[in-house]
Amino acid sequence: MTMKSFILLALSLTSVHTTTAAGSAAHRCFCQVTGTLDDCACDVETIDRFNNKEIFPKLQKLLSSDYFRFYKVNLNNPCPFWTDHSQCGLKYCAVKPCTPGEVPEGLKSSSYKVLLSHIVYITRFVVGGFLSLNVSPCSDETRQALQEWKKHDDESDRFCMLDDVDSPESQYVDLLLNPERFTGYKGPEAWRIWNSIYEENCFNLFLIKGQGFYCWLEGLCVEKRAFFRLISGLHASINIHLSARYLLDENWFEMKWSHNVSEFQLRFDKELTEGEGPKRLRNLYFLYLIELRALAKILPYFERPAFHLYTGQPTEDNEKKKLLLELLHMAKLFPLHFDETALFAGNKKEAMKLKEDFKLTFKNISRIMDCVECFKCRLWGKLQTQGLGTALKILFSERQIEAMPNASNTNPSFQLSRQEIVSLFNAFGRISTSVRELDNFRSLLSNLKQ
Ligand SMILES: Cc1cc2nc3c(=O)[nH]c(=O)nc-3n(C[C@H](O)[C@H](O)[C@H](O)COP(=O)(O)OP(=O)(O)OC[C@H]3O[C@@H](n4cnc5c(N)ncnc54)[C@H](O)[C@@H]3O)c2cc1C
Ligand SMILES: *[C@@H]1O[C@H](CO)[C@@H](O)[C@H](O)[C@H]1NC(C)=O
Ligand SMILES: *[C@@H]1O[C@H](CO)[C@@H](O)[C@H](O)[C@H]1NC(C)=O
Ligand SMILES: *[C@@H]1O[C@H](CO)[C@@H](O)[C@H](O)[C@H]1NC(C)=O
Repeated sequence: MTMKSFILLALSLTSVHTTTAAGSAAHRCFCQVTGTLDDCACDVETIDRFNNKEIFPKLQKLLSSDYFRFYKVNLNNPCPFWTDHSQCGLKYCAVKPCTPGEVPEGLKSSSYKVLLSHIVYITRFVVGGFLSLNVSPCSDETRQALQEWKKHDDESDRFCMLDDVDSPESQYVDLLLNPERFTGYKGPEAWRIWNSIYEENCFNLFLIKGQGFYCWLEGLCVEKRAFFRLISGLHASINIHLSARYLLDENWFEMKWSHNVSEFQLRFDKELTEGEGPKRLRNLYFLYLIELRALAKILPYFERPAFHLYTGQPTEDNEKKKLLLELLHMAKLFPLHFDETALFAGNKKEAMKLKEDFKLTFKNISRIMDCVECFKCRLWGKLQTQGLGTALKILFSERQIEAMPNASNTNPSFQLSRQEIVSLFNAFGRISTSVRELDNFRSLLSNLKQ
């Protein structure tokens, strides 16, 4: 640590001392972040132990692999809701896309490969086989089969908008080189985004403007409460990351990114947030449970022998598939899973209608991400809403998720695109990292004197 950053850190820590009154600093952020969570059978401590010791290390290893680090995204979609003129000029907002040479060759052709493996299933089991694996990529038959596949892959399951990855506007981004962290994006532009998201999410009913956003959760049906908590959990996660990787110091030679404890307190301390901070942290755990449950449920899909994490390096690809399956088995063994059948239950017709509303709402939220001016925030915002949308698709799809599609089953089986897979795991990686970071903040806060 340079002398200057040390002094700054010391200063920022002392400024916090003077503002603390009753209760220890750690207690005031974490007082309610303990015990059982509402609307589910799980407690915070079980998640902490499970995540920090088991899931987090394995997941980090998986996400550093070529298959998961390269994310194809269109950051140039225009905002569909208003004209945004303020192109964010903040230098920490910049995203550096990959040059063509940086992306593994195998990956560039992999969306095609994934399609091909699906086609083989469809044609073998549904359409009635006419295709073998060694057809040429450009043949009419392949194109026809692709069309067929696209037809089966209908929109109805989806909770979110996906970018057209074949568009020339879409580019690969190396997520490891463009980490989510403090960017300085704030003020009216950032608020407008959060405002629109909550407005959507609260179904225009229970939003209290003024001091902030607040959904009146009492009296809401369990589904609406759940959706508010997912968004709030995502919001909390983003704000934990920017506090954990804050730009503490910068000079000609280096930038120092690390924990800014007072930034964290401003966002999560009970007294500084009118009691809201700790609830937001609880919502983060709720989001964690939802995504974890989706991973457990999707296991059979990845157990298919024909599924590969294809990057063109067979040894590495097999190793990573093994790691992926280990992780998913681990997720499955979690003892206190969220019970998604509790949502959209009851009167069938009403439940279907509610589910449709949620899909529209969530799709709209994913489109709002194209209005985020700060590109770094847009990148991670898109990735995380796509990841959450994929988790919801997994949890609430009407289709069977099976290891071996059944020949006599005429329903097309469940499908995921590479973009959905990469966003699902990276989004969960972000939430898992947030839970891990809370442990760090807890000890940093306990080390503060009263
Ligand atoms: C999609 C998106 C991605 C972003 N990514 C980044 C990033 O990578 N790096 C970065 O530095 N900044 C990022 N930001 C900006 C960041 O989230 C904040 O908006 C910014 O730091 C300003 O914070 P704020 O204190 O004004 O409150 P904001 O976080 O903007 O929140 C506005 C209001 O919402 C309420 N609120 C806050 N948290 C919650 C919650 N968890 N649940 C419910 N209500 C809540 C509060 O009343 C608060 O006043 C992003 C913003 C958006 C919209
Ligand atoms: C989608 O969100 C925008 C921006 O907040 C809003 O103007 C629009 O009415 C929403 N549309 C739907 C269908 O919810
Ligand atoms: C930490 O965050 C606080 C609150 O936003 C800010 O005032 C302070 O300057 C930050 N500290 C450093 C070292 O940047
Ligand atoms: C396939 O589905 C049919 C009807 O749903 C069922 O009877 C049969 O046992 C299934 N076969 C396998 C191998 O799962």
